[in-house]
Amino acid sequence: MKTVAGTMAFITGGASGIGLGMARALAAQGARIAVCDVRADHLAQAAQVAADEGWADRFRALQLDVRDRDAFAAALDDAEAALGPLQILINNAGIGIQGPVDEATYADWDWAIGVNLMGVVNGLVSGLPRIKGHGLGGHVVNTASQGAIMQARATRGVYAPTKAAVISMTEHLKLELDAKGSSMGGSSMGGGAIGATVVCPGPVRTNIEETEQHRPAEFQVDTPFRHRDETAPPGALPPTAPGFWLDPLTVGEMTVDAILTGKLYVITHPAFIDSVKARHAGIEAAMAEDYLPR
Ligand code: NAI
Repeated sequence: MKTVAGTMAFITGGASGIGLGMARALAAQGARIAVCDVRADHLAQAAQVAADEGWADRFRALQLDVRDRDAFAAALDDAEAALGPLQILINNAGIGIQGPVDEATYADWDWAIGVNLMGVVNGLVSGLPRIKGHGLGGHVVNTASQGAIMQARATRGVYAPTKAAVISMTEHLKLELDAKGSSMGGSSMGGGAIGATVVCPGPVRTNIEETEQHRPAEFQVDTPFRHRDETAPPGALPPTAPGFWLDPLTVGEMTVDAILTGKLYVITHPAFIDSVKARHAGIEAAMAEDYLPR
């Protein structure tokens, strides 16, 4: 996309943390912003931010659980009626579920996959045909996690797989959209092309630690599948190191840059690269072994 000014961006989980940072960064460049969120208190806070920063006249707040397909489509209808055709779809809503994977219940898995993976799927299936249909071009952003490309970390064995799936999905999406965009001769906003970016944040100061306070009744379990590990990821800086925590607005600005420059990956914490290399070294070492029968 050459510019985001005047386009409509729909951001799931956009009323808090990274999603709100993306909303603010896009609004600062003239986009029209629809945020949806399951939490009414977060939506009210986002409306206040839009008012304080002077973009309330191009802002829409919608209550939505991204697991609800019919409500998702209705929210997109509402946003398009209020703010114009969807061009930037940001599937960002997520839950920071933590606990030992060997103790996880179906409820834990269903909630995690329902929000972190199927919420993204629902956005894609409901939203992408709209972007393809108007031919103005656009961009899909999916929020995953840097943890999904790093070494395994205790208590992340349910969360990280949902995010790994989002990374893989976005890589395939970009491949296919690029091929179709080239065949249409479009390479930027206005040419009908559609870009795709996966945002892989490291530690960002948000409200994600409140996840368990909002576990829906249908997924309540008696097991102690809760936060048990607050140590730094393997190969990462200690949480006290400068630059460990990012501001959500910074991640929003990185995301806008990726939309404008057509980047596939936003990886917010390059300082954690040793963990990515260590993981890949294990894979490469296994591939170097000779498995042929003797
Ligand atoms: P946050 O909790 O501040 O914001 C997430 C928002 O999503 C909340 O307002 C929440 O109410 C909403 N949400 C949760 N479930 C929802 C549902 N079913 N339907 C609609 N909205 C729902 O947390 P944060 O950190 O801003 O999270 C945004 C994304 O970033 C998530 O996908 C998270 O997994 C990811 N992420 C965050 C990291 C961090 O350090 N904060 C690191 C890596 C990834």
